[in-house]
Amino acid sequence: MESITQSIQNIVDEEAIIHSVLSGIQKNAQKTFNKVTIKKVIIQNEEKYQFEYFYDKNVEHKNLNNDETKEELSKLIETYFKQAIIHTSSWDYHILVNKKGEAKINKKQATRKFEEISHNRKKKYIINEGEKSAFLIELGIMTKEGKVIKAKYDKFKQINRYLELVSDCIPYLDKNKTIRIIDFGCGKAYLTFALYDYLVLKMGYNVEIVGLDLKENVIKFCSNLAKKLNYDDLRFEQGDIKGFKQYGEVDMVISLHACNTATDEALAQAVKWDAKVILAVPCCQHELLKKIKNEKMAPIMKYGIIKEKVASLLTDGLRANVLEIMGYRTQVLEFIDMEHTPKNIMIRAFFEDTKNISKVVNEYKEFKTQWQISPYIEQAFGEKLINRLEK
Ligand SMILES: C[S@@+](CC[C@H](N)C(=O)[O-])C[C@H]1O[C@@H](n2cnc3c(N)ncnc32)[C@H](O)[C@@H]1O
Repeated sequence: MESITQSIQNIVDEEAIIHSVLSGIQKNAQKTFNKVTIKKVIIQNEEKYQFEYFYDKNVEHKNLNNDETKEELSKLIETYFKQAIIHTSSWDYHILVNKKGEAKINKKQATRKFEEISHNRKKKYIINEGEKSAFLIELGIMTKEGKVIKAKYDKFKQINRYLELVSDCIPYLDKNKTIRIIDFGCGKAYLTFALYDYLVLKMGYNVEIVGLDLKENVIKFCSNLAKKLNYDDLRFEQGDIKGFKQYGEVDMVISLHACNTATDEALAQAVKWDAKVILAVPCCQHELLKKIKNEKMAPIMKYGIIKEKVASLLTDGLRANVLEIMGYRTQVLEFIDMEHTPKNIMIRAFFEDTKNISKVVNEYKEFKTQWQISPYIEQAFGEKLINRLEK
């Protein structure tokens, strides 16, 4: 049997690497970086392999020629990483190193194609057209040849925008353990499958993702699809966000377009678990609409559409404030253009256990008094929030 060094030499010499992810640190290795990715780049008309070294808080790059690549890649697999996924235009290689340091290589038909490369190329999507993606093919967004179906182009863009927003969360997740994620109100789970595909197949992380939804039929559909795709650590459960019990830690909570107060319930669950990352795209907020009675705003609130929009913005603004009060660094971002969907606000929050919350608490209370409103999120969070507001 050929050695791992020999196999790497053959791969680099004879096939050329499109993309590679190395992950999982060997027991006896002294930890420095968490992950390395490799891709081909062109720098001053010369083809190089770009190695990206991901540390806890920063990333370093090295651009290596073929010989340096063979040496560095062999060294990383022999002495540092437990797993390597190498995509070439002919094969997908999966290399696993066992506890005795022995490497085993499996190869399957290639799933990636070479794209035109240039170091200063314009910004690209995380999943590119022409790059065959099994879950997108199964969900009817891509043809078997990797072409995005015209009518599904908005969905394709939305998935990519979502993955871009997820990619910023990576530094908050501990790659040295299994990252546990819950997607509340997953629906048909386009975005849940995209998340799994990105974190596991593209980034090489260990994850456990649960998609939860009220609807039996969607859970059946998603469970069957996860099985068909061999997404072993993605499972789906039928149930209500409120009252959902998950044992152990949850690192990331996602709730995308869950209706009305379901978003508040999802945020409450996330905060209960001290989830490191929260991504929520709220949808159809009706709850506050009925409660707003603000005389000063009467001249504009008599218009139904305006009142609805104001209620929606107030709800989301207060949700973001509540997360800050609970110790999260919170951002409100645009999820996707208005022309594609009006549900365009994403609340993204990172747990930093902020202690100095008196300013945000005072502003929140004053704002509520002025508007004479009490949002549902207070009910969902219960005592945990009351204690902080009374501090
Ligand atoms: C509009 S779909 C969004 C699906 C997916 N997250 C997305 O963004 O593409 C909302 C989903 O949330 C689910 N949902 C609403 N309230 C829920 C609750 N309380 N518990 C669990 N699922 C809920 C619905 O059944 C529905 O499938």
